[in-house]
Amino acid sequence: MIGAERGDAHEAAPFAGVLARLQPECVRLIAQYEESRSALLPILHLFQSAEGWVSPAAIAACAQMLDLPVSVVESTASFYTLFFRRPVGKYMLQPCRGLACIINGAEDAMAHFRERLGVGHLETTADGVFSYEEVECLAACDRVPCMQVNLEFVYDLTPEKIDAMLAEMRAGTYVVAPAPQTATPGGDWHVAPEAKKSPGARGVSNPDDPGGIGDRSGWDMLRRLETDPHPIVVRPTKERLIADGAALLSGETGPQ
Ligand code: FES
Repeated sequence: MIGAERGDAHEAAPFAGVLARLQPECVRLIAQYEESRSALLPILHLFQSAEGWVSPAAIAACAQMLDLPVSVVESTASFYTLFFRRPVGKYMLQPCRGLACIINGAEDAMAHFRERLGVGHLETTADGVFSYEEVECLAACDRVPCMQVNLEFVYDLTPEKIDAMLAEMRAGTYVVAPAPQTATPGGDWHVAPEAKKSPGARGVSNPDDPGGIGDRSGWDMLRRLETDPHPIVVRPTKERLIADGAALLSGETGPQ
């Protein structure tokens, strides 16, 4: 079931209480860095760990605390797929669909999840308990097929293990704690893509759905660059990666 069917009606929990509770930790995090904006990611994680998602109120609070434009905080949160900008289930189930997992039975494990949960990739169950996402290699290729549950690893998946896990989660006895849930999730946690995208970004996967095996968007972007009649102009910049890349292309000394 897709989110719009159950609506985007996320009843906001009183955010003032959350903010008051987290404020001392935010102050501590900011003090760790030379520049306050460096605390943005840890603070976004902090809000997500308290609310279960990064709410618009949390984004506004981060912007104010760090003296950043809301757009900067929003674009940072939207870049990383581990930040949820819509409420999600109490358990985020993320089986790996990488190569080592696939050749060791991940397809069967994922089919079993989909059948048992009644939802597909990037969807949340109607009772709001489970969100489901098939993810890329989790770097645990020696214990496959594997997955993460609320970012905790689970290895050597079998249908029996999956059934036992789901039953324990429903009973509230599973070893991994449920995430806080301050708002009712919709059927998915998609955020509508921007209507306006820069030419280089058009046709490229939404950050909420990075594609996966067989995703053509990278090739499409390369082909577009190849055939672009307008050459890329590298302007003077202090950005080391760009400067080093330009030096390499021009035959000058590359990165040291
Ligand atoms: S392919 Fe699944 S952990 Fe590496």
